[in-house]
Amino acid sequence: MYTQWKPDSWRSKPAAHQVEYMDKVKYRSVLDSLMLQPPLVFPGEIHKLTRQIAEAGSGERFIIHGGDCVERFQDCNEETITNKIKIILQMSTILTHALRKPVLRLGRIGGQYFKPRSSERESLNGREVMTYRGDTVNGFPEELRAPDADRLTRGYYCAAATLNYIRAMISGGFTDLHHPYNWNLHSIGKTEEWAEYSRIVEQILDAIHFMESIGGMEAVGLNRIEFYTSHEGLHLGFEEALTRKERESDSYYNAGAHMLWIGERTRDLKGAHLEYFRGIINPIGIKISSRIDPDELNELIHILNPDNTPGRLTLITRLGIDKVEESLPRLIRKVLDGGHKVTWSCDPMHGNTVSTGEGVKTRRFDDILGEIKASHRIHSEIGSSFGGVHFELTGEEVTECTGGAVKIMDSDLSTNYQSFCDPRLNYAQSMEIAFMLSRLMKA
Ligand code: PEP
Ligand code: CO
Repeated sequence: MYTQWKPDSWRSKPAAHQVEYMDKVKYRSVLDSLMLQPPLVFPGEIHKLTRQIAEAGSGERFIIHGGDCVERFQDCNEETITNKIKIILQMSTILTHALRKPVLRLGRIGGQYFKPRSSERESLNGREVMTYRGDTVNGFPEELRAPDADRLTRGYYCAAATLNYIRAMISGGFTDLHHPYNWNLHSIGKTEEWAEYSRIVEQILDAIHFMESIGGMEAVGLNRIEFYTSHEGLHLGFEEALTRKERESDSYYNAGAHMLWIGERTRDLKGAHLEYFRGIINPIGIKISSRIDPDELNELIHILNPDNTPGRLTLITRLGIDKVEESLPRLIRKVLDGGHKVTWSCDPMHGNTVSTGEGVKTRRFDDILGEIKASHRIHSEIGSSFGGVHFELTGEEVTECTGGAVKIMDSDLSTNYQSFCDPRLNYAQSMEIAFMLSRLMKA
């Protein structure tokens, strides 16, 4: 039914959201040199991740997937990476404790440098410029908006440096669960929930100290965590250049991240993104909005996972608080009827973006929480597994999403709004979501 796949067979299909480079010779030479760079991930890690995603699909594991909407090159520094790993680690520890099952940590990190944008151009400082498409394409300041292929090389090296530092933190002990890193609860202190949250953290630390005192940490592997990277596979020239052949088999894998996902804007059944993704062995995510037709979803699944391999596909629903009740049951039932083995995750961010009166993009904490709660309930009612959550978050004290125990108001957003793209949960809001999730899903 399908033609032979090659890393470049996507080139014969219509490719949405690609970048037009003025200097085509330079672009080609950047891709040629990227093809010679060492892989950032190893196929054995990809296979292991696929097995763990399959476990999340059958309810034996839970996925926490999170990070920036778009990473900037300036985020490739010790403090920002440390804070991001710390928040994901702390959220996963809270959830492991409550759910009594392993939690898979997946970062939107080490390669999340490309963005699909709804318009080609935007207004900046009163002038019309090309939209910002992520640091590997163009720069945020007005004078850097022209795409520059050298940025692709810089993206590869920033991803390599980020991943190298994460691997060093893990092997060097930062992520040991008994490491005395600061839980920083002061930022949500003095709120009504404080007493309950600090009690939970005390219980977790107690359990860890107990394990340590009986010498069990190493025995049960608590001293070494696993952490996987992911990004939206958008720029197909770049992804093709990072495609490698697995030595033991004839299979191809993307060597730039453990997992890649297809965005809501590029999941066209006849498009180039599906063509590229169907040929790589990495586990794949697909973002799904309420715009998808359930039959289209089944076809999408069939193209990307014709062998129905568990763990291969994660359906990341981003329906929005207004649409989740109507859309999600239809989608789940259709997938169940089709007999497809998928893992479901909920992205409560992208269907809930709103603009304030001043035109600032934000998301309301209660909408985010509301979509999670509704998705969890709908999955339970239908008898399917709520396998994970997908957030845009940061370990920094930014003011981009409103609400939460820290009560950020529309008028507070300008205090520390840093995102170049979508608004992220800050440290306190992310912790609070983890506590709420654990209350919701407590075993
Ligand atoms: C994103 O994850 O940043 C994004 C653009 O999401 P979606 O494709 O779901 O709109
Ligand atoms: Co986003």
